[in-house]
Amino acid sequence: MKKRILIVNSGGDCPGMNAVIRAIVKRAHQESDWEIIGSINGFDGILSEPLEIIRLTEKRVEGIHPQGGTILTTNNTRNPYNYPVVQKDGSIKNEDVSDKLIYNLKVFGFDAVIHIGGNESHKISLKLYQKGVNIVGIPKTINNDLAITDYSFGFQTAAQVATEAVDKLITTARSHNRVLILEVMGRDAGWIALHAAIAGGANVCLIPEIPFNMEKVVKKLTSKYSTYGRGYANIVVAEGAHFKDGDGKIIQGSIARKIAAKLKEINFEADVRETILGHLQRGGSPIAFDRILATELGVKAFELVKEKKFGTMAIHKNSELSQISLEKVINQYNKVELSHNLIHTAKGIGISFGD
Ligand code: F6P
Repeated sequence: MKKRILIVNSGGDCPGMNAVIRAIVKRAHQESDWEIIGSINGFDGILSEPLEIIRLTEKRVEGIHPQGGTILTTNNTRNPYNYPVVQKDGSIKNEDVSDKLIYNLKVFGFDAVIHIGGNESHKISLKLYQKGVNIVGIPKTINNDLAITDYSFGFQTAAQVATEAVDKLITTARSHNRVLILEVMGRDAGWIALHAAIAGGANVCLIPEIPFNMEKVVKKLTSKYSTYGRGYANIVVAEGAHFKDGDGKIIQGSIARKIAAKLKEINFEADVRETILGHLQRGGSPIAFDRILATELGVKAFELVKEKKFGTMAIHKNSELSQISLEKVINQYNKVELSHNLIHTAKGIGISFGD
C-alpha cells in the first residue's frame, strides 16, 4: 500500500502555487511508494461528502508550473476550526470540524498533509499538528510578510507586475503633466510598494510601516512641477498605508482615492488620477524566480514528510533550504524595517515616504 500525502492549499492564490504542487508530485515520483492527492478548494475537499479530491500524477501536473492560480482552487475563509456547516433547518453555523477532518484523514489512509498557505493558514497547520496530524507547511503569499523565510513565492512576480504598472503610469503622467497614484497590495507590509517604487522610478512611496504626512507628500509633488505647471509625478501607495492620523484599516482601493481626494481638496496644481492594481498582482504566470523558489520548497516539503519532520515548515533562509517549527512561524511578520537598506536606497535617490 502506497503512503499517501494530501496537499491542501488555502488563503489567497499567488503565482507559483502550481509550481509548488508540481514539485511535490515530481519529487514524490522519484520514490516508488508515495501517492499524492490534492484537496479541492482548500479544506473543503477533505471535509466534503463525498470527498472532493484529485489524484496528482506526473501526467496531471505536467506543464502547470508557468500557470497562474492553482489547479486545486483555494479559498481564504474555510477554516476547519470555524467552518460553515448547514444546520437541519437549512441555516449555516460556523463550527469546529477539525475532528471530522482528522477522522477523514485516517479513514482515507492519508499518512501526511502538506499545507500551502500564508500566516493565517499556518495557524491552522499548527493546531492540526498539535492535534496529531502529520503536517508540513509551505509559505506562500504575494505580501512577503512571513518573517521566517527570505522570500515567499509569489512576491517577486507581484513586485514585477507592480513595477511594470509604474513604468506604464509614468509615461501617461508625463504626457499629461499629471500626478498618477498606483495602489498595490501587501496587506500590512509595504514590500511590493517599496520594490515597485524603486524599480519603477516613483517619486513617492507610501507604506504601512511609515504613516505619512500629506504636507510632506505635497511638498515632494510640488518640487516636480515648474512654475508653468509643467511636470509630472508618480506615487506608489501600499493598500495598508495610512495618514499619520489615520486608522490603518485596509479597504482595497480606498487609500489611493483618499490621497487623490486630499490633493483635489487643496486644489493641487496638477490633475490627479488613481489606479488600483488589485488582483493583477495575484494572478498570472510566475516569473522564473518564483517558479524556482516554489519548486525548491515543494521538493523540501516532500522530504520533510519522508523524514517524518512533522510540525515544520519548509523555508528558504539565508540562501539555504531549511525548515522551522510551526510554533516559531505564527505571528512572526516580516514588516519593512525603517533601517532596511531599501529604505536607505529609496531615500538616496530622492523618493519621499511622506515622513
Ligand atoms: O494576502 C494576500 C492579499 O492579496 C492581500 O495583499 C490582499 O489585501 C488580500 O489578499 C485580498 O484578498 P481577497 O483575494 O480575498 O480579495
